Amino acid sequence: MAASSSTSTCSSFSLLLLLLAAATWRSGEAAAATAARALNFTRQDFPREFVFGAGTSAYQYEGATDEDGRSPSIWDTFTHAGKMPDKSTGDLGAGGYHKYKEDVKLMSDTGLEAYRFSISWSRLIPRGRGPVNPKGLEYYNSLIDELVERGIEIHVTLYHLDFPQVLEDEYHGWLSPRVIEDFTAYADVCFREFGDRVRHWTTMDEPNVLSIAAYDSGAFPPCRCSPPFGINCTAGNSTVEPYVVAHNSILAHASVAKLYRDKYQATQKGVVGMNIYSFWNYPFSSSSADIAATQRALDFMVGWILDPLVYGDYPEIMKKKAGSRIPSFTEEQYELIRGSADFIGINHYTSVYISDGSNGEKAGPRDYNADMAATFRSKFSFDVKKAKFIFEERYAEWSVCPYHAPKRSEGAAMSRAFRNGADVKGYFVWSFLDVFELLAGYHSPFGLHYVDFEDPNLPRQPKLSAHWYSKFLRGEIGINIRNTISPDEHEHADQ
Ligand SMILES: *[C@@H]1O[C@H](CO)[C@@H](O)[C@H](O)[C@H]1NC(C)=O
Ligand SMILES: *[C@@H]1O[C@H](CO)[C@@H](O)[C@H](O)[C@H]1NC(C)=O
Ligand SMILES: *[C@@H]1O[C@H](CO)[C@@H](O)[C@H](O)[C@H]1NC(C)=O
Repeated sequence: MAASSSTSTCSSFSLLLLLLAAATWRSGEAAAATAARALNFTRQDFPREFVFGAGTSAYQYEGATDEDGRSPSIWDTFTHAGKMPDKSTGDLGAGGYHKYKEDVKLMSDTGLEAYRFSISWSRLIPRGRGPVNPKGLEYYNSLIDELVERGIEIHVTLYHLDFPQVLEDEYHGWLSPRVIEDFTAYADVCFREFGDRVRHWTTMDEPNVLSIAAYDSGAFPPCRCSPPFGINCTAGNSTVEPYVVAHNSILAHASVAKLYRDKYQATQKGVVGMNIYSFWNYPFSSSSADIAATQRALDFMVGWILDPLVYGDYPEIMKKKAGSRIPSFTEEQYELIRGSADFIGINHYTSVYISDGSNGEKAGPRDYNADMAATFRSKFSFDVKKAKFIFEERYAEWSVCPYHAPKRSEGAAMSRAFRNGADVKGYFVWSFLDVFELLAGYHSPFGLHYVDFEDPNLPRQPKLSAHWYSKFLRGEIGINIRNTISPDEHEHADQ
């Protein structure tokens, strides 16, 4: 698999910016500030209702994978088949299933305002549909109660890549439209049981990554791909399946959002959104081909999911390039999906330069990358078509791991967004503590808090980044973008 050859240590599941549609705050205050001050901002420069948090996900955090009635997810199957580069599994995670009380206290001590975590579908409903596991229910209820008690805002993701194996076996998971009904029924349980205390619901984490990494390159479970794309898959079809999976994801999201709006929103008063992986793209040159490729890459990466949620259909360029390989929405589906997100989460690491890749277009089968026909360039001169989905990690190491500067590109983007009047509602660091990273196992330096995986008690210890975040949240230090960005980024930040 492409991912196996990576020596990097970070995963893609990074930072979440919440852009809430129903926003109240406007950029007036920021616009009034001087340019210099806008590049050195403190907690007080953000609106009070803006939240700063950190996140984890179920499979990466909980451990206890065979305890209390949980059934395996596709990630258990993947790791137990020895598919991780270091042969690790998520059996241990960060031990969160048993240590969550201690961790919530740690969040409180860190000054965290919000916590983003995901629910394990196969822990809550071990058969995928039907009876709820009382132990699973108890765990999430108790975790949520702890967070409420400490005044930490709760952001729940319903699905973070860990599909129940039992349903994968039954109908190939996201490849089948049958997933829509089962996912909606699972969401119904979550809203019913937890919605009295949870107001922020994300249906899925990074459906665009899921579609490509699991069904085009085959690096993520269920590891489907077809030649000449991806490596060593035993089944799959890289030319069509990524489009089918994204399609079913969008429909499943919309079905869940409709359920929430019809049955719960009036009383629970929460919001439902989706989360998308992104780069920001700049043209590599001023040629019209590179400028067109830059827009095309944005449409393929972000528009693929965002356009349906906002406008009810895929970007025209995708329909043109993928032709009959990308499914169409019926009139009824168009009505269902259009406007189906109360907010959009953006997972963002960095920006890239894009040059036109259509010269490399060959006859023969075409996948998503061939349809996009764009070459991604960074300081590493990376080619997305060759690198598939290992590229995000390289970028991640570069821009996020030295956490003293996560605010570098993201901070610049946020300050710019504010000044342009964007309704940015929150910022989540990945991750609250070291967890089982989906491609790097237990060698991840991402956490604000260090976890000693060699010690059976999995003790936690704050890193410098945890201290930094605490001080920032207490208003004792500011983020000074001007000193940390490169001349190129500086120019973008000043725009
Ligand atoms: C693909 O499979 C072949 C044959 O089993 C094996 O030799 C090769 O190492 C595999 N490649 C990767 C990247 O896993
Ligand atoms: C993938 O699906 C397309 C459309 O159904 C088909 O034409 C193509 O032969 C399939 N490729 C593989 C490798 O099965
Ligand atoms: C940035 O803000 C912090 C906190 O208010 C302040 O201590 C620091 O001097 C400022 N730095 C610059 C360069 O303005």
